[in-house]
Amino acid sequence: MKRSHHCGELGLAQVGQTVTLAGWVASRRDHGGVIFIDIRDRYGLTQIVFDSEENAPLHSIADRLRNEYVMAITGNVSVRPEESKNPNLPTGSIEIRANALELLNEAKPLPFSIEDDVHASESLRLEHRYLDLRRPRMQQLLHLRSQVTHLTRQYLHGLQFMEIETPILTKSTPEGARDYLVPSRVNPGDFFALPQSPQLFKQILMIGGLDRYFQIARCFRDEDLRLDRQPEFTQIDLEMSFVDREDIIQLIEDLIRLIFKETKQIDLPSPFLRLSFEESLNRYGTDKPDLRFDLPLHDLYDFAKTCDFQVFRRAVESNGMVKGLVIPKGAAFTRNRIDNLIETAKEFGAKGLAWVKINEDGQLDSSIAKFLNAESLRNALPTAKPGDLLVFVADQATIVHQVLGRLRLLLGEELELVDRTRWEPVWVLDFPMFEYDQTSQRYVALHHPFTAPHPEDTPLLDSNPLQAKTLAYDLVLNGFELGGGSIRIHSPRQQEKVFDLLKIAKVEAREKFGFLLEALESGAPPHGGIALGLDRLIMLLGQTESIRDTIPFPKTQKAQCLMTHAPSSVSPEQLQELSIRTTAKKPAATP
Ligand code: AMO
Ligand code: AMP
Repeated sequence: MKRSHHCGELGLAQVGQTVTLAGWVASRRDHGGVIFIDIRDRYGLTQIVFDSEENAPLHSIADRLRNEYVMAITGNVSVRPEESKNPNLPTGSIEIRANALELLNEAKPLPFSIEDDVHASESLRLEHRYLDLRRPRMQQLLHLRSQVTHLTRQYLHGLQFMEIETPILTKSTPEGARDYLVPSRVNPGDFFALPQSPQLFKQILMIGGLDRYFQIARCFRDEDLRLDRQPEFTQIDLEMSFVDREDIIQLIEDLIRLIFKETKQIDLPSPFLRLSFEESLNRYGTDKPDLRFDLPLHDLYDFAKTCDFQVFRRAVESNGMVKGLVIPKGAAFTRNRIDNLIETAKEFGAKGLAWVKINEDGQLDSSIAKFLNAESLRNALPTAKPGDLLVFVADQATIVHQVLGRLRLLLGEELELVDRTRWEPVWVLDFPMFEYDQTSQRYVALHHPFTAPHPEDTPLLDSNPLQAKTLAYDLVLNGFELGGGSIRIHSPRQQEKVFDLLKIAKVEAREKFGFLLEALESGAPPHGGIALGLDRLIMLLGQTESIRDTIPFPKTQKAQCLMTHAPSSVSPEQLQELSIRTTAKKPAATP
């Protein structure tokens, strides 16, 4: 029995036809004498009726069907009685009165039932991913992912991009995370690294004259996992020659607008908002601001400089800062709630959290009341109103921004300030080229070492590297970093200078990036590019909480696959062949 239709397409137009459907038993209802089976496939559900009066032998076969059995049925499409029509189901006006059934496979009792409203733990879902993938929600998300890659390919092919693959077995790329290594059997003691991104290869492709490259590229990073990170993830990666920053921004905005429009009928703004790194940090405490609500950080430098509270004064006198949030209606918070807020601030890294309630009658109630001059506070925060709660952090800038940036997000959720119907894409621009890392006592690249400085900032590489800004850009959507890229350095001399500043010794630079430096010396065109996180894009577009829902076979928080049990130990013979001995206290796998 070969299917003539799928389970989501029959309706009143096919009434009277004989059809064959194949799929899984989604549910079975026994009404004594009549059995109703919902048959399910990727496309939908259709109700099948087995009536003992019409066909007794078939009815008794249907009696043995259980959830998730696989079957094919043939029958007649008929109109459902008025009272049993289901307007919520595309096939809800019809049912199939079965006259033949082929049981294709049985299924053992399920660890969880196949429904969108799944109650199973995520680990159970991941262990039995083949069942989890049958849930319509998972299929929708994978369909969305496929739509997005299809649209992307179409769009980029239309603009003369070439889709080119780059190696998976490669050399360590400097993207800032730990590498996944693969031992080489034929070169004992040597290792490949899995690419953290195709960065160096795509630059080489530009130097190779390919002009416009893209790839839906798998990347591997051994880093601490969070809700929006996976060790193995996918980028929409591209690179172009003879372009400037505006060209890339324009191209990506158009692509993102196209994807949102075509898949979700959402009109994103045109153009996207832009913020400098500095503005973003000052106002939102982060370089990936969620602009679906305001609640900005307020700078209290002048207030702090002249106030009597030692903690504040000392902070600004020692090159730190004092910033605060004005929490609307926060004066109604109980002491307990404020104490929790203080605890959270400390968990985020603050030494304390000073607070001031402006009661409805305008009176101040505060943890630092005795140091407070109401008049100068009012001047410092003219937008604060009766009923508000003010909270302050005094510290070095990084701590202040980190703590208040995270409190802002937390309060945005708690106070329901986040408008979930809003989409707020924003470009963050003009990142500094370097940060100074106190631990290793050296500069580190904020994006990566191949990012070009603003042309007018080039002299700063000699005089004051920390002041130099780059031609890098991050695309942020609703508080998530969706993508990042830059115009690259194409002068070998400038590239060497940057390696010098990063204290990558000449020998090491030649050893690690020799091929790039040589290529740069061989006629490199000006070029630039970007990579978008595909999994994150689907997570946002599909409005799911976890990046794992966008990946068919994801890894857990501990970077494990619960279905295949990877990673796992290997046999001593395999290790020996690779000239590897492990120090891990774990028995080797038995063959
Ligand atoms: P970057 O490191 O910013 O840039 O990565 C680009 C985008 O990839 C996504 N991303 C991740 N998604 C899921 N899990 C992860 N562990 C993960 N890490 C990154 C993010 C991020 O914005 N070669 C440069 C790009 C360039 O300069 O062209 C690069 O990889 O959405
Ligand atoms: P203390 O004088 O340490 O008791 O602090 C008085 C108030 O100031 C308390 O509410 C503390 O939480 C708060 N506080 C202490 N250190 C800081 C800081 N670095 N930034 C903001 N508030 C602080």
